[in-house]
Amino acid sequence: MRIALAPMAGVADWAFRTVCRETAPGTVVTTTEMVSAKALCYQDKKSLGLLRLAAKDESVQIFGSAPACMAEGALRALAVSGADRIDVNMGCPTPKIVKNGDGCALMRDPDKAEAIVRAVVSAVKVPVTVKTRLGWDSGSKNAAELARRLEQAGAAGLCVHGRTRKQMYSGHADWYAVAEVVKAVSIPVIANGDIFSLRDLERCLTITGAAMGMIGRAAMGNPFVFTGEEPDLPRRLERAARHFALLTEDKGERAACLEMRKHLAWYLRGLPWAARYKREAASITAAEDFFKILRRLTGEGEGHGRF
Ligand SMILES: Cc1cc2nc3c(=O)[nH]c(=O)nc-3n(C[C@H](O)[C@H](O)[C@H](O)COP(=O)(O)O)c2cc1C
Repeated sequence: MRIALAPMAGVADWAFRTVCRETAPGTVVTTTEMVSAKALCYQDKKSLGLLRLAAKDESVQIFGSAPACMAEGALRALAVSGADRIDVNMGCPTPKIVKNGDGCALMRDPDKAEAIVRAVVSAVKVPVTVKTRLGWDSGSKNAAELARRLEQAGAAGLCVHGRTRKQMYSGHADWYAVAEVVKAVSIPVIANGDIFSLRDLERCLTITGAAMGMIGRAAMGNPFVFTGEEPDLPRRLERAARHFALLTEDKGERAACLEMRKHLAWYLRGLPWAARYKREAASITAAEDFFKILRRLTGEGEGHGRF
């Protein structure tokens, strides 16, 4: 079974997507972090850096709200990355994004959402998919209706996070509402929201009838979520070390250290004695700091056996 890793800005970068793909070979489907179509049009260097693919079959996700700019951004993203699919972000709830009319704000403007999909589909030769939420708030859940329009506009697939914009990440994802979207269209739909294990995934797929499930937060520090494996400490540390090596290759030692602070804390999640190490992880500034923590953790693990 194939499982999607959710696009996560600041988390699911090239290094982490590679770690997930390596941990569950042949299973994980990935998308880049969201990239600003406007920035792509201006050839912004930092945005171009987001387009390094972890595999040839990754989607590039773009965000923005001007149809022509989205079409142009999509073309540039494809030219730079070599990707063979494009995903359009209509789900991001953060104020910085929606105040510009981007991300989930597009769900409040279905005409524009449809125009964007039409523009991108006619500009590129690859499949175009869209990631949405259920709607803006509980009084305006229009995901199924919008899905029908986006299908008409040429979308090749959809992904639906079962929350509204207003919910951000609170409450529960409503898989029954995602099922309504699945029923409304004939293109494949990926179900997303609150899948924390393979058991959850199975339940979600049964309820939604979706073609695939997508996992976000549960994968942080836990690429094993895609295999169902219960990792012992050496296995976790091996993955963390690999993650750090990939981050270093991609972003250099300094940036890798800053990024690894949060990732290492996540790799140690749930370990009863990990608090001290998490504090230390928060001040990693050089590769040696990271390896020192890893060496001490290895000793700690020997004392505690498997967990
Ligand atoms: C840190 C973070 C960054 C995210 N960045 C993106 C993004 O760039 N594009 C996107 O479509 N969704 C983004 N999301 C939303 C996730 O893709 C996903 O829809 C959400 O986390 C719900 O899935 P989950 O319950 O499995 O975490 C982000 C979520 C988080 C937590």
